Amino acid sequence: MSTVETKPAKQTANIRLSDPCAMVIFGAAGDLTRRKLFPALYHLAENKLLSDNFCVIGTGRRPYSHEVYREKVVEDLKEFATANPDPELIKWFVERIYFLQGDFKDPASFKSLNELLNQVDTTHDTKSNHLYYLATPPDWFGPIADQLGKAGLTSQEKESWKRLVVEKPFGDDLQSAIALNKQLLGSVEESQIYRIDHYLGKETVQNIMVFRFADGLFEPIWNHNYIDNVQITVAETVGVEGRGGYYDGVGALRDMLQNHMFQVLALTAMEPPARYEAEIVRDAKRDVFRAIRRMKSEDVIRNVVRAQYAEGTIGSKAIPAYRAEPSVNPESMTETYVAMKLFIDNGRWKNVPFYLRTGKSLAKRTSEIAIRFRRQTLTKFDDMAIENLSPSTLILRLQPDDGINLRMGAKVPGPVMKMDMVEMNFCYKDYFGAQGAGGYETLLYDIMNGDHTLFTRADNLETNWSIVDPILNYWASAPKDTLHTYPAGSWGPKESSNMLSKDHRRWRRIPANT
Ligand code: BG6
Repeated sequence: MSTVETKPAKQTANIRLSDPCAMVIFGAAGDLTRRKLFPALYHLAENKLLSDNFCVIGTGRRPYSHEVYREKVVEDLKEFATANPDPELIKWFVERIYFLQGDFKDPASFKSLNELLNQVDTTHDTKSNHLYYLATPPDWFGPIADQLGKAGLTSQEKESWKRLVVEKPFGDDLQSAIALNKQLLGSVEESQIYRIDHYLGKETVQNIMVFRFADGLFEPIWNHNYIDNVQITVAETVGVEGRGGYYDGVGALRDMLQNHMFQVLALTAMEPPARYEAEIVRDAKRDVFRAIRRMKSEDVIRNVVRAQYAEGTIGSKAIPAYRAEPSVNPESMTETYVAMKLFIDNGRWKNVPFYLRTGKSLAKRTSEIAIRFRRQTLTKFDDMAIENLSPSTLILRLQPDDGINLRMGAKVPGPVMKMDMVEMNFCYKDYFGAQGAGGYETLLYDIMNGDHTLFTRADNLETNWSIVDPILNYWASAPKDTLHTYPAGSWGPKESSNMLSKDHRRWRRIPANT
């Protein structure tokens, strides 16, 4: 096994090629592999970021030959990467793809994997670097890691590396996350593990750090002296889309908030890291998670709202109630919406509430961070009803219309002193063109180059669960009427708005057209 990998931070100026490697995908016929992983690899190849000494071994139960699997990958690329793939590039790509039929429980499959790896290592001169991607249901993470370890496939000899990539969900509470971490550590070291949170691969999420720390324009006022509250919204119009069986056992708190939204929160709230290096950035995030005030049952009642969608319409489409979705328990108590008020107990954020909300089947697909500034009126303007105006707000739009808005007061032209809100608007696509990338390109590239900055470290993950666990525990025995409802196509339950009105605040009204 290796010593700790000392990995440089993400390269900022000189773009480097990915390290040579063989990538083994467990769950090679699954949705994630078709929709995200192969398209991302293809885009990396298109952008000339993938080493020539690269290959993929897909593994799964189906009896594909290499040729049949290659044909399938090409069809999937046409559907999910590009309608018109470049024939030269496709040729280059498929020559590097293999399939191994196997049973993840059977040690013999790992013996066969070892043999195939030896073969492709030579054919493609991969330097024996192996990337094991667990694109499987979570129950398989531990057992596959065990088998890889037992088969000797995780030991790092000489200069070669072996890395293990784990998708979410990583555990379903603190205890199970600790147990899974422990199980993985039986076969690999922490430095070999890459826990994926695909939100961290999104350009705009990474830009939060650049916006705050590389530009620095707003940093001097990024604190409780100037900021009244922060609102983070991740709204989806989709329901559970055939994933009812998975989602009904999980819910919005575990599916979105504990991971994606907490990562966005950490980037928004953390102290400037001294350098853009994996451990330093992850330490800065750890400090935010540690400082989040833990909730007792009475705090959960006051500060957390859970709800489930009832039938409704989105656009002109009729949406059935969540409980009527396939594979969902007709009496399900699973939340499809959660809103929460959190405090970060440190000097920067003293008494500043962070309001987080996420839900499925909402009015609009949008993710944003809204920084609501305190009202700073330095001069009295008679006749102007300043208190009726919205507070100045900085909005970091994460998706789908990535960009930044600044809403502030301005004088309405005319002889009368009157003020209204105006907006400065920056759109990524206007400056940089449309970006096709879904986040996985960056993450795969970083894994191949050993950069941990955008991956969740075990201690951060466990701290996240320790924040969420008291809520899950309270809900497990809470009265049924603490699960509210909202019509599909709305902005969520009224109880969520009430939570803010009790603080004399309101959710930012997100316009229909941005
Ligand atoms: C996934 C969740 O992690 O993120 C899904 O499991 C959710 O339920 C998805 O729909 C949202 O991702 P994105 O990139 O579309 O915002």
